[in-house]
Amino acid sequence: MTSGGPLRALFAALLRIAESCYAAGMRSSIVLALAAFCLTACQPATLAEPAPAAPARAPLAGPVQAGFELSEALCSGCHAIKAGTISPNPMSPTFAMIANSAGLTRETLSEYLRDSHNYPETMNFEVVEEDSYVLAAYIITLRSDDYTPPIQ
Ligand code: HEC
Repeated sequence: MTSGGPLRALFAALLRIAESCYAAGMRSSIVLALAAFCLTACQPATLAEPAPAAPARAPLAGPVQAGFELSEALCSGCHAIKAGTISPNPMSPTFAMIANSAGLTRETLSEYLRDSHNYPETMNFEVVEEDSYVLAAYIITLRSDDYTPPIQ
C-alpha cells in the first residue's frame, strides 16, 4: 500500500469503480454516490463540535467581581474559591463550605475577615476594610439552598 493510508486506497478504489461505471454509461449515479461519500467522509471534525455550554451562573459584576479577583489573588492558594472545586490545601474549608455555614451573613463574614486576631495561624495576614467587604460580597454568592457538604 502507498504512504497515503487506507483512506487514499479507498478513494483510489472508488475512482476505479467510477471509471468502469462511467464506461458502462452509469455516470450520473456514480458521481452522485461519490459526492455523497465525500460529503460525509471528508467533513472536518471541527464542524461536529457541540456548541459551548451556557455559563452556569450570570457573569459577576461590581463588588462581587472585585471580591472574586481578590480571592483568586489572595486566597486560592489554599481555598477552593469556586463552587464544586476542591481546596488546594486540604486543611482549608472551601469557600462554598464557608458561605453555607449556619448563620453566616455578609456582615459577620466581612467582620471576621477584618479582625486579624480571629485568624488561624496559617492565615495570619491583614485584610483592609474595603477588601473585607468585597471578599464577603463574593463568598456569600456561593451560598445556596441545595448545598450539600462534600464528603472528605
Ligand atoms: C496559607 C493558606 C491560606 C490562605 C492564603 C487563606 N486561607 Fe483561609 N483558611 C486557611 C485554613 C487552613 C483555614 C482553616 C483553619 C481552621 O480550621 O482552623 C482557613 C479558614 C478560613 C475561614 C474560616 C472558616 C471557618 O468556617 O472557620 C475563612 C472565612 C477564610 N479562611 C477566608 C479566607 C480568605 C477570604 C482568604 C483570602 C483573603 C484566605 N482565607 C486565605 C488557609 C488559608
